[in-house]
Amino acid sequence: MLKGKTVVLGVTGSIAAYKIANLASALVKKHCSVHVIMTKNATNFINPITFETLTGHKCLVDTFDRNFEFSVEHVSLAKQADLFLVAPASANVIGKIASGIADDMLTTTIMAAKCPKIIAPAMNTNMFENPIVQDNIEKLKGYGYEIVEPASGYLACGDTGKGKMPEPEVLLSYIMKHIGCKKDLAGKKVLVTAGPTMEKIDPVRFISNHSTGKMGYAIANNAMLRGADVTLVTGRTYIKKPDFVKIVDVTSAQEMFEAVDRIFDEQDIVIMSAAVADYRPKLVAEEKIKKQSGESVLELERTKDILGTMSDRKKNQFVCGFSMETENMVENSKAKLEKKKLDMICANNLKVPGAGFGTDTNVVTIITSDDVTELPLQSKEEVASSILDMILSRI
Ligand code: CTP
Repeated sequence: MLKGKTVVLGVTGSIAAYKIANLASALVKKHCSVHVIMTKNATNFINPITFETLTGHKCLVDTFDRNFEFSVEHVSLAKQADLFLVAPASANVIGKIASGIADDMLTTTIMAAKCPKIIAPAMNTNMFENPIVQDNIEKLKGYGYEIVEPASGYLACGDTGKGKMPEPEVLLSYIMKHIGCKKDLAGKKVLVTAGPTMEKIDPVRFISNHSTGKMGYAIANNAMLRGADVTLVTGRTYIKKPDFVKIVDVTSAQEMFEAVDRIFDEQDIVIMSAAVADYRPKLVAEEKIKKQSGESVLELERTKDILGTMSDRKKNQFVCGFSMETENMVENSKAKLEKKKLDMICANNLKVPGAGFGTDTNVVTIITSDDVTELPLQSKEEVASSILDMILSRI
């Protein structure tokens, strides 16, 4: 995924430095070329050999290292870099970068780098809250540096508060956001619905379905990586929410309808993958459940058809729905496409192994008014990417 990309990791003197080994390793696994530059202080916390072993590149510390072939190393590395991340970034290095001081390999290289630059501060809470540090951070933001908010928690110094470097996975998601994909959806607003809706029967029970939200979350994440401004309207799920996506949590179909209704008009692409509970009890309170011949009868009514209602009022939006079928998948889905006036429908056959609810894979057939494309069994991430490719080719 990061083949051909070069990331420079700047590591400074903070206890969190050891965590960067995991980040370097994760990047290498994604076929990224990783170069690590450490400050002298950082070498007190983690040995450069660790990074050299993981990345296969010499870890740079000293600007005037004599063991090197002569080339102006800081400039050549700065030119190669697609992204520069300083993590953990100490108050000292933040101050130096903000003030234009370049007195070691890390600060000279970042000064010469024109690629996106991300800084992840990590320090004691009192240091982080010091107005001088805060001013330096604001200054860096003004120069276009992206700042990763430190996490709160128990700090190595024994204090509890803000100042922890976020976990390597979080840093990786920042890197992926910048260089994980081509930005072919930049400037587009994308709305995705995902997950199951729930309809209350009484204060304890509800009607719902088996949706996990995985497919919709993968679409939202892929659209975000491709540069779109993404809103994810989601029913209750138990999976990690994608980063850098606006999340709107909903429970019932009515709440999902209202959330979609509020922002539909401003969207460019709308993908409704939510598994909306089709029925809800007419009356919710337990005492209103009809008693007939000694048995409880639950009277049901249809929930609002969110996709159909929205599609009816669409102007320039590209609207894509999903359809879950157990038989006659293509015919039924084509009928839904027409009935709901959709631009595209992604059909799942729930009887095919590896497709549908809960799995990490999916088998999807993409149907438009003039085309039927069967995708092979793929991970939901790959399916998401294929769906967005198809939409892009049609807008
Ligand atoms: N959908 C919706 N609102 C509903 C039900 C479904 O917006 N109340 C959307 C789903 O998000 C999906 C598409 O409609 O994108 C198709 O859903 P599906 O459950 O397969 O079909 P239904 O519309 O419920 O039609 P039917 O019950 O006739 O199969």
